[in-house]
Amino acid sequence: MEELSAIPETALWTLYHRAGEARRPGTRYPDPKAVELVDRLDYPFAARFGSGQGLAGRMQGARCGLFDQEVADFLRRCPRGTVVSLGDGLETQYWRVDNGRARWLTVDLPEAVALRERLLPPEPRQRLLACSATDPAWPDEVDPELGVLIVAQGLLMYLRPGEVRELFARCAERFPGGTLLFDVVPRWFSTMTTKARADRRGYRVPPMPWGVRSHELLRDARTVPLIARHAWLFRVLALDLPDLRARIVGSVGLPEALRRG
Ligand SMILES: C[S@@+](CC[C@H](N)C(=O)[O-])C[C@H]1O[C@@H](n2cnc3c(N)ncnc32)[C@H](O)[C@@H]1O
Repeated sequence: MEELSAIPETALWTLYHRAGEARRPGTRYPDPKAVELVDRLDYPFAARFGSGQGLAGRMQGARCGLFDQEVADFLRRCPRGTVVSLGDGLETQYWRVDNGRARWLTVDLPEAVALRERLLPPEPRQRLLACSATDPAWPDEVDPELGVLIVAQGLLMYLRPGEVRELFARCAERFPGGTLLFDVVPRWFSTMTTKARADRRGYRVPPMPWGVRSHELLRDARTVPLIARHAWLFRVLALDLPDLRARIVGSVGLPEALRRG
């Protein structure tokens, strides 16, 4: 059976809920690779995380849908560019949106990369790098010539605020003209995770030290239309580098997830 420490285990949580949503009849977020992976893995998903098909599944599907749209847009603009996925875990985005020409770089902690290498062996245009997203060395592995999109889905909330600031500054310095696409949780949710207890199945969400207040987002996003109406839990942001103005791509809030039915 797969054994992972708490932070890399979150990659199994997102995979499982994405697959759960993908199995739902009528879903707008199909993901055959995720479904296949969950079926293949020796892991007590249901006992650990529940049914995988409730609201968490809806929200996970919707969140991935927002990221996919942005990555697909980038690939239309920069068909031979590089998508760098920080904290990639067992994301199957490559199999959902790849255009046959782009390059893909996964950056994740050694434990998560070892699991990914075994379960999702890299295809010729994919590379895996086992190091922290906070390590200043990973940008050296990226050739920015044909365009760069840095994706951090479900990652930044696990970093400390100072680490997030440093990461933003590093990306701005190393990838001018690139874009950083990421999601955030609200400050109240971040605080809650630092006090959360294990649920009845014994699963405890790891602490998420970085959360933001909505007025902080609005300040950064003042030049663009606000699409996020129901940002109950997640918002997805795009930061055009090096100017540190964020663009809100959309939100995956509870009411929206329900509306999408
Ligand atoms: C919630 S999972 C998200 C996985 C994937 N992006 C997705 O959306 O399905 C968080 C991922 O971030 C990775 N992670 C956490 N801290 C990290 C760090 N400092 N550097 C790189 N990856 C990290 C974990 O190993 C895990 O794969």
